[in-house]
Amino acid sequence: MEYTTFGKTGRNVSRIGFGGAVAGLKNYLYEYDPLQDDSFKGVAKALEKALELGINYFDTAAGYGNRLSEKMFGEGLKGVKPEDIFLATKFSGRTKDEAFASLEESLKCLKRDYVDLIQIHGSSFKKEETDDILAPGGLLDAMEDMKRQGLVKYIGFTTEDNNDNMYRLIQSGRFDSIQMCYNFIFQHGYEPSRPFGSLYEAEKYQLGIATMRAPTSGTFQRWIRMVNPDNTFDYSRALIQFVLSNPLVDVALIGMRSEARVIENVDIVNDTEGRIDLDKVHERYV
Ligand SMILES: NC(=O)c1ccc[n+]([C@@H]2O[C@H](COP(=O)([O-])OP(=O)(O)OC[C@H]3O[C@@H](n4cnc5c(N)ncnc54)[C@H](OP(=O)(O)O)[C@@H]3O)[C@@H](O)[C@H]2O)c1
Repeated sequence: MEYTTFGKTGRNVSRIGFGGAVAGLKNYLYEYDPLQDDSFKGVAKALEKALELGINYFDTAAGYGNRLSEKMFGEGLKGVKPEDIFLATKFSGRTKDEAFASLEESLKCLKRDYVDLIQIHGSSFKKEETDDILAPGGLLDAMEDMKRQGLVKYIGFTTEDNNDNMYRLIQSGRFDSIQMCYNFIFQHGYEPSRPFGSLYEAEKYQLGIATMRAPTSGTFQRWIRMVNPDNTFDYSRALIQFVLSNPLVDVALIGMRSEARVIENVDIVNDTEGRIDLDKVHERYV
């Protein structure tokens, strides 16, 4: 397993992280029911395999199946010493009280006294929302309180968008990490030929950088199947290698819910020969 330092947290984390959305959400990307007995057992086995093969970064959220994913993680990781893994979760609320209440419930589901990372569960941050987060007595102050109280070690936010507001959150200098959407089909965060992008900004502020949807949540593969049904090339592997090839990405999160996928993805991260030179991919002759 390849490891790296997760930004200013200084923590040693595996370059792929176990993403918990697909485990807890019903029909999130594919037909699936987390409430089936087999689902719970399958995720427990996947978590066990991930630990055995060296994955130490685990990402879940209160919002994944009304805490089902957190409960699965709590059960599957209960024998693990807290200091041996990096456990991240998220809350969806936007007030201090909602955030604290959500964290308290997360700790119960995860069977822990603290989590390594609490994140604002973001999508596209609006101006007013961001003003509220950064205002005195706002959400960011509350998250720093969580840190002072020892309920969390680090604070971060997640974002699907690359708008001005996410830049404002980075530039506050008060977050320890960011989780952003970056993959082969969403490359706004990283344009090395100019260069510009939020990945560079996050690196400048020494944030731990995790990315979501390395295998594009299946979108790219579905497109290929539509335009060229006979094509059998393993695009998922290449897509994951693409994200791992980015030197600014600390952890590429991949949604996993089966032992077989964990084995496959650990094989991909261990195949360091499969990394590509992104500067060459983006090379332009102008
Ligand atoms: N706003 C936010 O905070 C936010 C948003 C999205 C995601 N995230 C985080 O990022 C994680 C990853 O994103 P995601 O789960 O949405 O999408 P993803 O990782 O792009 O896609 C997950 C799906 O890809 C398939 N897959 C995984 N490895 C594969 C491989 N080697 N070959 C073929 N297929 C493979 C799995 O299918 P099978 O089920 O068939 O194995 C899985 O269901 C989430 O779980 C979550 O932790 C956060």
